[in-house]
Amino acid sequence: MMNTATRVALADENELKPGEMKKVDVDGKKLILANAAGDYYLVDEMCSHEDFSLYLGCIKDKTIKCSLHGSYFDLKTGEALEEPACEAIGTYAVSVSEGRVWFERPDD
Ligand code: FES
Repeated sequence: MMNTATRVALADENELKPGEMKKVDVDGKKLILANAAGDYYLVDEMCSHEDFSLYLGCIKDKTIKCSLHGSYFDLKTGEALEEPACEAIGTYAVSVSEGRVWFERPDD
């Protein structure tokens, strides 16, 4: 029997430089894969404040900034660190192996 966990390759390991991000679509969900200081994070694309893409913002340390009203979100926990956003964004586990960045789909 093969490994039952389903993995989805999101990027090559060296595809994004620190501070870069890309949009990915996983199971119909619009997400952002971000390289923050050498570590990869996977979060919801849309801001929790209004329907605005965080892809238009920027990565700073381990946070992503929404460029519409300036809220920062913790890339690891999704927590909104500054108003006006007060709700967290979703975060998802990724791993790096075999030269690729993978989304590990949770077992049902
Ligand atoms: S839409 Fe992101 S902070 Fe307002």
